[in-house]
Amino acid sequence: MTIPPSDLPAHAHLRAGGTSVVLDLCSADQPIIVHWGRDLGELSDAELAGLARAAAPQRVSGGLDETGRLTVLPQASGGWLTTPGLVGDRDGADFSTRLRLTGATLTPTAATFVLRDDAAELEGRITLSLGVSGLLHQRLSVVNRGADAYRVGALSAGFPLPATATELLTTTGHHLRERSPQRHAFTIGGHVRESRRGRPGADATLVMVAGTPGFGFERGLVHGIHLAWSGDHRLLAERTPTGDAVLRAGELLQPGEIVLASGDRYDSPDAVGSWGDGLDAFAARFHEELRARPDHPSRPRPVTINTWEAVYFRHDLPTLRLLADRAARVGAERFVLDDGWFHRRRDDTAGLGDWWVDAEVWPDGLGPLIDHVRGLGMEFGLWVEPEMVNPDSELAARHPDWLLRARDELPPPGRQQQALDLAHPEAYAYIASRLHALLDEYPIAYLKWDHNRDLAEAGSGPRGRARTHANVRALYRLLDELLERHPGLEIESCASGGARVDLGILQRTHRIWTSDCLDPLERLDIQRYTGLVVPPELMGAHLTSPAVHSTGRTVSLAFSALTALFGHLGIEWDLTAEDDETLDLIAGWVALYREHRGLIATGRRVHADLADPALDLRGVVAADGGEALYVHAQVRTSSAHPPAPITLPGLDADRRYRISVAVPEGAGGYLGQSPLGWEVEPVVMTGLAAASVGLRPPVLQPQAAVLIAAAAVD
Ligand code: DGJ
Repeated sequence: MTIPPSDLPAHAHLRAGGTSVVLDLCSADQPIIVHWGRDLGELSDAELAGLARAAAPQRVSGGLDETGRLTVLPQASGGWLTTPGLVGDRDGADFSTRLRLTGATLTPTAATFVLRDDAAELEGRITLSLGVSGLLHQRLSVVNRGADAYRVGALSAGFPLPATATELLTTTGHHLRERSPQRHAFTIGGHVRESRRGRPGADATLVMVAGTPGFGFERGLVHGIHLAWSGDHRLLAERTPTGDAVLRAGELLQPGEIVLASGDRYDSPDAVGSWGDGLDAFAARFHEELRARPDHPSRPRPVTINTWEAVYFRHDLPTLRLLADRAARVGAERFVLDDGWFHRRRDDTAGLGDWWVDAEVWPDGLGPLIDHVRGLGMEFGLWVEPEMVNPDSELAARHPDWLLRARDELPPPGRQQQALDLAHPEAYAYIASRLHALLDEYPIAYLKWDHNRDLAEAGSGPRGRARTHANVRALYRLLDELLERHPGLEIESCASGGARVDLGILQRTHRIWTSDCLDPLERLDIQRYTGLVVPPELMGAHLTSPAVHSTGRTVSLAFSALTALFGHLGIEWDLTAEDDETLDLIAGWVALYREHRGLIATGRRVHADLADPALDLRGVVAADGGEALYVHAQVRTSSAHPPAPITLPGLDADRRYRISVAVPEGAGGYLGQSPLGWEVEPVVMTGLAAASVGLRPPVLQPQAAVLIAAAAVD
């Protein structure tokens, strides 16, 4: 029930999952988040009032008569003179708002505020809610209560930061190197990360994190945000000269993209905030909340063979049958037929849009392959790229008006392709019917859903309106519709590798394709930083052929397998060319994954903050703390030989663990010339000792890794 302004409490305190949010409801036009972070315990009204009073700034020389406050939707009318929460206008008028709190709904874990500006004839709604693991969600809306159209320029959620947060971390990257970290000082001013690519993009920042200088994965207070949206967006870290610092997240709207007619509403995507002592604690909140979803993939993640790097566009039934035989032999449980199966798709210049099976390459349809795959006990999956069109396709020839464009000429091509306007009702209906037809005709358990170009000039037609927002919404609607009509279907979000990784897409897909780069050396960082939001069981990680296609490096199977272990394992390799000995080794690694995938899908991900940059130590600790697996990797040569001790984070401090090297057969890469003491006889130590004293690692060649097991003995 909405509480009217006269009955509103002066303060509110939301608590869940170890997080507190303290709200001051009476010191400004709008609520102020006085504290977001550590759980402050039960607080009396007087204590809440004290916190609010303590946070209020003084008037200062040269400033406004009342120092502006960072409210939930800060505005110039409240003296906030840096980035406002809402930007919009009514043909130039109402460019500035005074949205005031007019009512609220409060529960112990959530608050919804209704704000009104009667002069500007606008209503705002803000919902702050804490999830089970203490993630703070912010959802904002603006409603046009006037007669004339209101144009929304931006609506962004703000997450206030503690004064100690003086270092920023974001991710950047490109194809084959997604989510590459970058850090710098968080000084006064704004640091912006935007996507204008119609998808998050390979360079998108998955998170924007601010923390104490030098924060790591194990320690250092961090607060950060993620936007659950698969289109254009803007993340901002802003520090003001008045002692405030804030992270903001919102959709990036093109001019005129959202114009609200009288009574219309715009809803911002979910902006999600996490915090913790170290990045692992920050990430754990995301993983825990995702895992608590009723539809989170909970059956063991099927080992997946994908045909792309095995055959690329060279589809022929005998080869693919043989590949399936080999895949089943090594323990794969899902066979995915990648790009190349549909009408005239012999390379990447033609065919996108013509979603029927190519009659020349597949004269009897996909049935014979699917029967064979299923006969071997594997599920069948199929690659699609429904949002894309090759100009060389029947679709483009018949419906040129279905392509996104802003002028007569088409936008600059990417991979020789253009994008379909999925928000066009007929284009949507066509794509939906083709996908339903495929899923009705064949027993397809899985779609690998690709999106292989950045959008540019994504308009509804020559001199038309910007359509990125509408296309993301149409995509979500299509995915939801498919999942509803085809129960049990799983979908992978792929976009030239990992260019569409966000919680908007992950609400309706079951896995992301992390990167087209399968090189374990590159994957270490890609997976480490993707894991800041995405739990391991949703992160596609495949065994590569020894000669890595994208980097040209030669890597060992053991290094590839141990890097892929803490993910959703798959194989991307032409197994038809491998001998029995290699297939047996692969089968051993697949069996190892299958043995531990339950732990990987439910345990807590940890990374040691090691001083030696040549070493990488990561692990998964069981939810009950009873066991853990760690992968220790030698990335390059260390300055020390043998290297200094490594530490094993995440174990229960007081419990004692038996720690052993679990080197599966064929691992190799050992350089040590005498056995380690704890290899000869496993050591028993407490979790506290393992995390602080640690133990000498085996001496390894660069680009080698070993598995370390910890099992509680009491
Ligand atoms: C890009 C994907 O990331 C690859 O895995 C593969 O599916 C190709 N597209 C196919 O065109």
